[in-house]
Amino acid sequence: MQTIEDNTLKALVCRALDAVPRAYAPYSHFQVGAAVLAGSGRIYDGVNVENASYPAGICAERNAIAHAIGSGERHVLAIAVCGGRDGDVSGDCFPCGICRQVMREFCNPDECLVLVVRSAESYRTFTLADLLPQSFGPDAPGLRSLD
Ligand code: THU
Repeated sequence: MQTIEDNTLKALVCRALDAVPRAYAPYSHFQVGAAVLAGSGRIYDGVNVENASYPAGICAERNAIAHAIGSGERHVLAIAVCGGRDGDVSGDCFPCGICRQVMREFCNPDECLVLVVRSAESYRTFTLADLLPQSFGPDAPGLRSLD
């Protein structure tokens, strides 16, 4: 089992919290921030970006993951997420199902940590396997991976 230092988790949580005001959520007013701890040790953040054509919007978690992968990363070790109406993050904001599946592509589900954040001092920790049990991923038997 990987161990991630407390200071690193704290930095991850703070990056997710700091991102929240940058969310573009003029339709739902539900602002979300996310931060990914990638294999290199770097942290990448993201926010939800909505669209006048509602289904074209994208979640904060997927934007943070795309930020990491587009920067050359291939492994997600942990992800922190927080959000709420008008940026009030005092309630739990769990990743949606699509984001859980996107995490699955780049995570070891038994080790990847998902931090559901309410403040710098208050967050709950799950593994991806807790949130997405019995999942389908790039290691599926018979699925040809590109690398
Ligand atoms: N949203 C996220 O960005 N992440 C989540 O985990 C849950 C929902 C966004 C999508 C949409 O812009 C808004 O929150 C309301 O659903």
